[in-house]
Amino acid sequence: MKIDAFKIEDWMNTYCPQAKYDLTSTCIEPLNINSLLEFDSAKDIFNQNLTYGNIQGSLRLKYAIKSLYTKQELVNIIVTHGAIGANQLVFLSLLEKGDEVVTILPAYQQHYSIPESLGAFVKKVFLREENNWLPDIEELKKVITKTTKLLIFTNPNNPTGAVIPDNMLEKIVEIAEENNTWILSDEVYRGLNLYGNPYSKSIADMYNRGISVGSMSKTYSLPGLRVGWIAAKKDLIKEIITHREYNTISISIIDDYFSAIALENREQISKRNFEIMRQGTNILRSWLSSEPNVSCILPRGGTTALLKYKKEIPSQILCENLLKQSGTALLPGKTFDMDGYLRCGFCVGENILKTGLNMLSEHLKTI
Ligand SMILES: Cc1ncc(COP(=O)(O)O)c(C=O)c1O
Repeated sequence: MKIDAFKIEDWMNTYCPQAKYDLTSTCIEPLNINSLLEFDSAKDIFNQNLTYGNIQGSLRLKYAIKSLYTKQELVNIIVTHGAIGANQLVFLSLLEKGDEVVTILPAYQQHYSIPESLGAFVKKVFLREENNWLPDIEELKKVITKTTKLLIFTNPNNPTGAVIPDNMLEKIVEIAEENNTWILSDEVYRGLNLYGNPYSKSIADMYNRGISVGSMSKTYSLPGLRVGWIAAKKDLIKEIITHREYNTISISIIDDYFSAIALENREQISKRNFEIMRQGTNILRSWLSSEPNVSCILPRGGTTALLKYKKEIPSQILCENLLKQSGTALLPGKTFDMDGYLRCGFCVGENILKTGLNMLSEHLKTI
């Protein structure tokens, strides 16, 4: 199976190790093991035999995941190797050569390159700045037809930080329902809405062909636990399990254990994370107010913002020069098909964010 290079991953693997001020990350300053052990008075982890564990995820973990949804039972949930593993399993289980898929971009490249590699025909629908990076419902009504098997989007969105309001999600579900179209909503940033309820509605709770993907990496600050999951209807989960048996066996028993503890204590983790997010957006807002060369629709959730720069230079060259001159890494828009923009992770810590943004300002003056 041939597949396109994963442009974001390639760029980050090549350049991020050289960065002193790395603003490319989509994670909120990750937690360490000691802070998780503080939540765990039993400390059972030290007596844990390192077996495969429960092949489909421990009951404790599955109950903790179930509590993130209103309508999901244990049979509707399968634990995966991160959201990256979850997305791939959904595509492998659902798509065949010749299927039609609609992907809303900008998106994680998995959302179009894997379907394309499986022989699906992918219609790409771009979010637009004039719509505050939200989907255009009238456009979706035209693009999604009876031949559309799957609609894919990310909510909250990476890289724009836009959050689809629940009433708009309902309209999207109506369109999908009319056309018998599955929806895969990549919800790795769910729980990180800056305004109103931190948790948007989950597509699996809204629609019987809704598939929700979640993970420990972003909302719970634990990307080093390679744990994600899929919530969807029982029959699809059964199909997914068949594919999963060929590529996962089980996730690490250690990752399973710590993920359950983190989800059980998510209120405390969220409290800490929202402080980091608010600090990050304040820094961003204040920097933008005195930066004439950049504009940005401020994020309403998630961990990233999309910066539009007012200089005639390809984003990759800008980012390479910026890194060479100042040790600051931002993600070039070219890596997610949006040249002219830069992705900035705003939950990377006060000093790194402030210094990196100031370095960008200095660099833009020289172009
Ligand atoms: C939208 C989206 N989906 C999936 C992933 C992969 O997440 P995980 O670390 O859980 O595999 C990422 C990582 O950046 C992401 O941004």
